[in-house]
Amino acid sequence: MQNVDVLLGLQWGDEGKGKLVDILSPSYDIIARFQGGPNAGHTLIFNGKKHVLHTIPSGIFREEIINLIGNGVVIDPVILMHEIQKIEAEGIEVKNRLILSKRAHLITPSHRWLDAASEAIKGKNKIGSTLKGIGPTYMDKTGRNGLRIGDIEQNNFKEKFDQLYQKHLQLLKFYNWTEIKEEQIQEWFKSIEFLKQLQIVDGEHYINDALSKGKKVLAEGAQGTLLDIDFGTYPFVTSSNTITAGACTGLGIAPNKIGSVYGIFKAYCTRVGSGPFPTELKDELGDSIRNVGKEFGSTTGRPRRVGWLDLPALKYAIQLDGVSELVMMKADVLSQLETIKVCTHYHYNNHVIDYLPYDISADNVTPIYQDLKGWQKDISECKSKRQLPKALLKYIDFIQENVGVKISYLSVGPDREQIVKL
Ligand code: GDP
Ligand code: IMO
Ligand code: MG
Repeated sequence: MQNVDVLLGLQWGDEGKGKLVDILSPSYDIIARFQGGPNAGHTLIFNGKKHVLHTIPSGIFREEIINLIGNGVVIDPVILMHEIQKIEAEGIEVKNRLILSKRAHLITPSHRWLDAASEAIKGKNKIGSTLKGIGPTYMDKTGRNGLRIGDIEQNNFKEKFDQLYQKHLQLLKFYNWTEIKEEQIQEWFKSIEFLKQLQIVDGEHYINDALSKGKKVLAEGAQGTLLDIDFGTYPFVTSSNTITAGACTGLGIAPNKIGSVYGIFKAYCTRVGSGPFPTELKDELGDSIRNVGKEFGSTTGRPRRVGWLDLPALKYAIQLDGVSELVMMKADVLSQLETIKVCTHYHYNNHVIDYLPYDISADNVTPIYQDLKGWQKDISECKSKRQLPKALLKYIDFIQENVGVKISYLSVGPDREQIVKL
């Protein structure tokens, strides 16, 4: 009997999960997404080509690997269809290696309209959602009104859809939202027909059977721990459990079946969308890191906010996720800097604390930094630990000592080949 390994983001998303799943996937038989939806954008770069995945797990470019979209995921069938068609256009077979759980919920066009309407009414307090309909779809899931992949084969699917759609139209009236685009509904139904070509299974049986046959499974997180619906910077979060526990509910595996947990973080921090960000750099240095790191959203193209590494936040994430191995990404982006700051503590209510309190807004916490020496050397060609500059090894040691977990891999560039095993 095998365990399920989990790989997830420890910050506010976009840590580089896609790249690492792609690197680790040859050691696995199944890669499984367990939460989120097309709000995710996971980038893989190999053979000089860039691919961005939104719903499909990042094992899809490796032959022989099965990619499962678990029950915890919300699926926009139109986006998924386009994603499949785009990859198949490159001559890669997708349909026989992509499997959907019957229990995964469907995002409808009216979920997206509701997302937009809800953001519009919030004005300057908006969440900064990707507007993919994530929040409204999970609301219908927990409100017990949702449509699931398993419903598409049933005779009353159209009826179920209409019921939900009528409810959404009422809600949209309440929001004074008038951009109702009927043609999107037609397209949606076409994409539903397309999805019927895929293997649709009871995901929980599928995965537990696979484990009992000795198959190796890697669960691929989306978003990041600080965007978790329970433990993130609420309300500026996504609508699912992004933490390791989400892999249990989002795939149907028991907690005692969780194996290694890979926690992915950047050598600094980024955040896209609204919400508190204690170590944010709102100056030219922030702009420069954004440009060097190409910190623009993979899904929306929005500029990402940039700041220093935040250790209280990282420790919080490591604890919630039970991280057994850390992976540090994008160290190369800091290579120019003479000095690198790391937040080790916060000033909070006239105290100095080293943990993440309930409210991390700027009125409440002020970061306390330690200065570390930069390495000022190009590391993008480094292949082994021996080749890494001393100052970078010190940066790594400093983080490991503070958080108490080993960093197993260091990513030194966006390409599949740019990875150093430590
Ligand atoms: P994900 O959502 O966690 O999969 O991450 P994204 O794909 O949204 O964002 C990560 C971005 O950083 C992508 O553009 C990657 O190509 C890029 N990237 C990943 N690792 C590295 C790295 O080590 N160095 C640099 N410079 N870029 C990286
Ligand atoms: P990956 O998997 C970064 C952010 C949005 C917004 C908040 C809520 O690529 O790391 P939602 O669309 O879920 O209602 O948006 O969460 N967000 C992400 N930020 N990476 C992501 O995914 C994200 N998915 C959602 O910007 O602040
Ligand atoms: Mg991303």
